[in-house]
Amino acid sequence: MVMKKRKLGRGVAMVGAGMSKFGAFPDKTSRDLFAEAFGEMEKSVDKGFDPRDIESLYIGNFSSDLFEGQGHTAPIMADWVGLVPRPATRVEDACASGGVALIQGVIAVASGMYDMVLVGGTEKMTNLPTERVTDTLAAASDVLYEAAAGFTFPGLYASIASAYMARHGATEEHFMRVGVKNHENGALNPKAQFNTSIANFMKRRQAKCQEQGQPVPDWKDEIDFLKDAAFNPMVAWPMRLFDCSPITDGAACVLLVAESLAKSFTDTPVHIIGAGQASDHALHERADLTSIGAARLAAQQAYDMAGVRPVDIRIAEVHDCFTIAEIVATEDLGFFYPGHGARAIMEGLTRRDGVKPINTSGGLKSKGHPVGASGIGQAIEVWHQMRGQAGKRQVPMDVPLAVTHNVGATGGTCVVHVYERR
Ligand code: COA
Repeated sequence: MVMKKRKLGRGVAMVGAGMSKFGAFPDKTSRDLFAEAFGEMEKSVDKGFDPRDIESLYIGNFSSDLFEGQGHTAPIMADWVGLVPRPATRVEDACASGGVALIQGVIAVASGMYDMVLVGGTEKMTNLPTERVTDTLAAASDVLYEAAAGFTFPGLYASIASAYMARHGATEEHFMRVGVKNHENGALNPKAQFNTSIANFMKRRQAKCQEQGQPVPDWKDEIDFLKDAAFNPMVAWPMRLFDCSPITDGAACVLLVAESLAKSFTDTPVHIIGAGQASDHALHERADLTSIGAARLAAQQAYDMAGVRPVDIRIAEVHDCFTIAEIVATEDLGFFYPGHGARAIMEGLTRRDGVKPINTSGGLKSKGHPVGASGIGQAIEVWHQMRGQAGKRQVPMDVPLAVTHNVGATGGTCVVHVYERR
């Protein structure tokens, strides 16, 4: 495909951001969670704003129809936050629904059609038991050639992981290290579903064994714990429980305005200077399972639009729905050569204090993965880090440039955004 360099008709800036806590909330619907996210977003706009100035809404949502029996989600969200009769559009691209909603919002403002739009995402997954969540998610694969053959999402990513191991000599420990890092970050994120480190999980499991009068395992470190099949069972080889993102309820939203208006809302807007999106064949049709072509294309488009190189990017929130996915993402984004993403995690390069901090929020692994909201949750982490407001998980360096990378299913859709703080 010939890559055409694209540009925005005018600049777009993020001036507000809010999210609900991610987790399991039996007493809440996705509209309650969305209203929570909206309330936090309203408070985040430093100089205040009138919500009636919002002109349009773009809402990422994968499957409220199957999870909650509620289709046609976008106008419901608009109504719940008092924005009827503004146009409200639901965006569905599996786990990339939030990221694609964001690019739609960027296009809407950049085109000049709207000066202020609300971009959000929502998903309420825990209404269903795990088996039915698994079937619902499998609808985002190729149902004729993948789900029908018995593939689930852990199974599809397990194929990617085993291909990566075969090609690059990676081991299960490389994947486990991603989980350890992301849980360490998530432990510092009060909004995270698993707001706890794996070291802490170990201690809890030991305490439980003691309470129940069972032998107390004597793991020497987190990796020893993660190799213990009694506590970290195999889901689909080589992906174990702690390699999977969880089943999550949550919502998130950001407020976008034309760049020329941004300073009326805050002195520290976050500018979206690059956006790219691409699609790919279903996984079974790909020649190479160890990289996602659509992610490489989306990243190239976003970097070209922004006029930046991968080396310029300070931090990134990437789509770690499974631990292998983070390793592949860091290569597809051009941060590391093929096969070196696994080395980078072993060398600590992607830790909060490393040269390229990845998933400082805890990522989907620890923060949680309410699929339609995840892409917006990523933008919110970047917003906090770039403004120096990420609390205990703030990276120890200035963040003028950042990236988000959101993947639908196994990469049928990929969307990448580049952010700048001036
Ligand atoms: N990571 C770590 N721990 C997890 C976990 C995860 N992903 N999911 C659940 N747990 C923990 C629970 O907290 C619980 O711990 P507790 O006993 O201390 O309370 C325990 O494991 C059992 O939880 P449960 O909810 O019964 O797990 P489950 O077996 O029903 O579900 C998975 C586990 C891995 C099958 C489920 O999280 C899953 O399907 N994840 C993938 C989701 C997905 O595919 N998303 C789309 C990606 S493209």
